[in-house]
Amino acid sequence: MIQYIKNRVSPLSLSIRDWYTGRLPVATIRNHLQKKTVPRHRHTVWYYLGGLTVFFFVVQLLTGVLLMIYYKPTIEGAHQSVVYIINEVPFGWLIRSIHSWAANLMIATLLLHMITVFYLQAYRPPRELMWMSGFILLFLILGFGFTGYLLPWDDVAFYATQIGTEVPKSIPVIGPTIVTLLRGGEDIGEATIPRMYTLHVFVLPFATFLLIGIHLFLNQYYGSSKPAGTPTKGKSIPFYPNFVLRDIRAWGIAFILLLCVAILMPWGLGQEADILRPAPEGVKPEWYFIPMYQTLNILPSHIWIFDGETVLNTMMMLGGLIVFLLPFLDRKAKHEERNLFIVSAGTVLILYCIVITLLSGPLPGEDPAVQETKIEFPSFEYRINLLMYFITPLIILIFFIVLKIRQLEFHKGQNYYE
Ligand code: HEM
Repeated sequence: MIQYIKNRVSPLSLSIRDWYTGRLPVATIRNHLQKKTVPRHRHTVWYYLGGLTVFFFVVQLLTGVLLMIYYKPTIEGAHQSVVYIINEVPFGWLIRSIHSWAANLMIATLLLHMITVFYLQAYRPPRELMWMSGFILLFLILGFGFTGYLLPWDDVAFYATQIGTEVPKSIPVIGPTIVTLLRGGEDIGEATIPRMYTLHVFVLPFATFLLIGIHLFLNQYYGSSKPAGTPTKGKSIPFYPNFVLRDIRAWGIAFILLLCVAILMPWGLGQEADILRPAPEGVKPEWYFIPMYQTLNILPSHIWIFDGETVLNTMMMLGGLIVFLLPFLDRKAKHEERNLFIVSAGTVLILYCIVITLLSGPLPGEDPAVQETKIEFPSFEYRINLLMYFITPLIILIFFIVLKIRQLEFHKGQNYYE
């Protein structure tokens, strides 16, 4: 029977392959991908983080398009349309939960990716442009978080955006204009949602898509870096098909994790924003903006003759410029030595961000002071069954991918790389 199906399907799949290989530069692309190899050493695992960020970005695009069908970017419609998506649209609660969780996981993998390329010193020549394009990507992705936070038009998001859009005010000359441009007036209101929405669903996706393309092209062009001072093990891993299969395995695992959190802990919704109500307790930005927000809180309102916010803005701009230009400031790059000063300064900054975030108390979603809109999610039993339906094919897929990797890399009990 299997042989019969094979005999029938093989000629068809061959003729489909002949058709597209005759029309598209498939062989050229494959040859190009095969030229790249990924070094094997004790830090190889960190090379998955960039690919995972791409995966979550694709999830965001797909789920975002589905949410756009029902979301209404107006003061009267925004909150109600989100309630409608959760309560009435079939699987709406799930799509929204995946979108919200994947946004957070994407920022987490992105920050880890940046931290690991920093410690592996992969920003050094010739990869300066990879670092710089990545740094701009960081801002674009944080921009997604900032603009998306306001869209459900709930209490905490409303006041957090009020505080967030205030920050550029102290930038000399252009500050107040930036604030007005973001808000569409003096305050957050009717005109703000369409602005945030346009940035969130059009400007940022377009710019990010373009820049990810450049970032990935550069990665193919330069290949993956070997960290200085780390001994490599045996042969490098061919990017295609071996590392691509390993990437797909990582995406499968990430997808399972995403489904588990999105289904078992569905994303909630705060109560509708009311411009006239005083700010509720527990107003806080998303976790990735907390270091900046808390720094602003602990800075005195006046430092010598300067305003506290102006000092923070100046510090952030200078700090950002230093990080952006890091590949040119690392004087030890040519000698392949670790630059202890840069590594220590980076470590202090990372530890500061972690500590100040941990000290800032519960996250917005976990704060008992924050009022939630009452939502009827499907029962726990139903959700567990749903999870099983989704993850079973994924587990089977991962199993076959692992078999394929073993088939490629282990031959007659011998590891291909040794
Ligand atoms: C949307 C955001 C981003 C995506 C989708 C992305 C994706 C990737 C991918 C797929 C790779 C190759 C695999 C790997 O080494 O992980 C990579 C490498 C790299 N990325 Fe990113 N990246 C992003 C943001 C960043 C940021 C914020 C930085 C740093 C500021 C950065 C700097 C680099 C560098 C220097 C490499 C080369 C690593 C090496 O050759 O060892 N990327 N990126």
